[in-house]
Amino acid sequence: MVSTSTQIAGFAFDNCLMNAAGVACMTKEELAEVKDSAAGTFVTKTATLEFRQGNPEPRYQDVPLGSINSMGLPNNGLDYYLDYLLELQESEPNRTFFLSLVGMSPEETHTILKKVQASDFKGITELNLSCPNVPGKPQIAYDFETTEKILSEVFAYFTKPLGIKLPPYFDIVHFDQAAAIFNKYPLKFVNCVNSIGNGLYIEDESVVIRPKNGFGGIGGQYIKPTALANVHAFYQRLKPEIQIIGTGGVLTGRDAFEHILCGASMVQVGTTLHKEGVAAFERITTELKAIMEEKGYENLEDFRGKLKYIEE
Ligand code: SIN
Repeated sequence: MVSTSTQIAGFAFDNCLMNAAGVACMTKEELAEVKDSAAGTFVTKTATLEFRQGNPEPRYQDVPLGSINSMGLPNNGLDYYLDYLLELQESEPNRTFFLSLVGMSPEETHTILKKVQASDFKGITELNLSCPNVPGKPQIAYDFETTEKILSEVFAYFTKPLGIKLPPYFDIVHFDQAAAIFNKYPLKFVNCVNSIGNGLYIEDESVVIRPKNGFGGIGGQYIKPTALANVHAFYQRLKPEIQIIGTGGVLTGRDAFEHILCGASMVQVGTTLHKEGVAAFERITTELKAIMEEKGYENLEDFRGKLKYIEE
């Protein structure tokens, strides 16, 4: 029997596929749809302390090879997502869900995380250090000094399972430097990657999204090689206690297979979920299982991280 079940931070999931934060996760209704699909779990839209309207529309556009977005962290505020997760803890005690969050400043991030720490939330927290779309706010994890400061302060009080959502890195030295920082902390996972920030997509003579004169995060097929490189680079460098969630360019079971081969323990679907809806989870799972069956793999451990290199 082929199984795509997995574990993150010691919690079991019956499928390794889930949504990527930002897609199908703004409202309880959207989250319930992912929850009740073939996905193993869900992650909420990245929550800030208070409700945010986000950037002006149009701010998300599907394009032939992927997507471009500049949402600007629209969300219903921490309490909305936390209350829903606390409800689910009662009604579905055997399942574990992810809460994504970040503050609009380091101080707000601490306020939010302290609220989560003080709450009864027993799930997994994902701190988003990589949103490219809030005007005037840089992608936090490109600033190693700030990232290290935030992590050192967070782990002084936060004892629940915590991972971080990362932007893509493009330089081997940056993989080394980032991994050296992450290895100092009791992170449960890193999630590679958020969109490739600040691309431009043009139709005829115009950009396709309004914010920032068309600059936005790129997802989908465009980004799979970058996503795989980040998954594998961190798989090679991080201590084994820090697992990898692979995100970026997952359209098919083959794409999910490649993320796991590079070291991912969980695989998130963003652009494809936006294009296809939650039926994508069942299709991709069936395709992944068919590949595993053909190769004689019964579970993810049989091939996770076992990417082959071309020997000298
Ligand atoms: C957004 O809300 O702008 C997208 C979320 C992200 O890229 O982290």
